[in-house]
Amino acid sequence: MESDPHIGEILLTEEQLSTRIKELGAQLSRDYEGDAPLLVCVLRGAYVFLTDLARATDLPVQIDFIAVSSYGSSTRTSGVVRLVKDLEVDLTDRHVILVEDIVDSGLTLRYLRQLLEDRKPASLEVCALLVREGARSDDVRYVGFPIPPDFVVGYGLDVAQHYRELDSIRVFEPAE
Ligand code: IMP
Ligand code: MG
Repeated sequence: MESDPHIGEILLTEEQLSTRIKELGAQLSRDYEGDAPLLVCVLRGAYVFLTDLARATDLPVQIDFIAVSSYGSSTRTSGVVRLVKDLEVDLTDRHVILVEDIVDSGLTLRYLRQLLEDRKPASLEVCALLVREGARSDDVRYVGFPIPPDFVVGYGLDVAQHYRELDSIRVFEPAE
């Protein structure tokens, strides 16, 4: 991996990720005390974050998965969001936390928020590990880290399905 020319500097180390996720877990545990929120994992990028976040809370959380696609195999959004896999759990009167890997343009989030709000949950909040600086993030209640414009990979995030297994979040260096 160290010899892969596409893998650039470490933006967030394993330790930084783990420390911040424990803080987010503690915050969720306070905010949702007495509730059993439903964590909705946005596939595929958020799957690593979800597993650490769920274990960082001391809440009796439930989980479900939803998949959307907007990027194909490129590093630019296509501008169109498509539902690839729907939830199985009924959201009516549930406290729902949408768990995202990264909010970039905010397009995916707007689509998902609309979709889930139509199902009348008791509440709907967003927890994103990363938010691109400059992105419209006023509706992201829980933010792990704001990050600069570089495309990043690792800790669940991919480019064309590669690099999800990296322990840290690293800058992706496209070919010249
Ligand atoms: P948005 O719709 O532009 O906000 O894009 C959000 C989605 O694009 C995220 O859920 C990711 O799947 C993907 N994405 C955006 N930026 C990156 C990145 O730097 N690395 C990997 N995936 C990204
Ligand atoms: Mg995603």
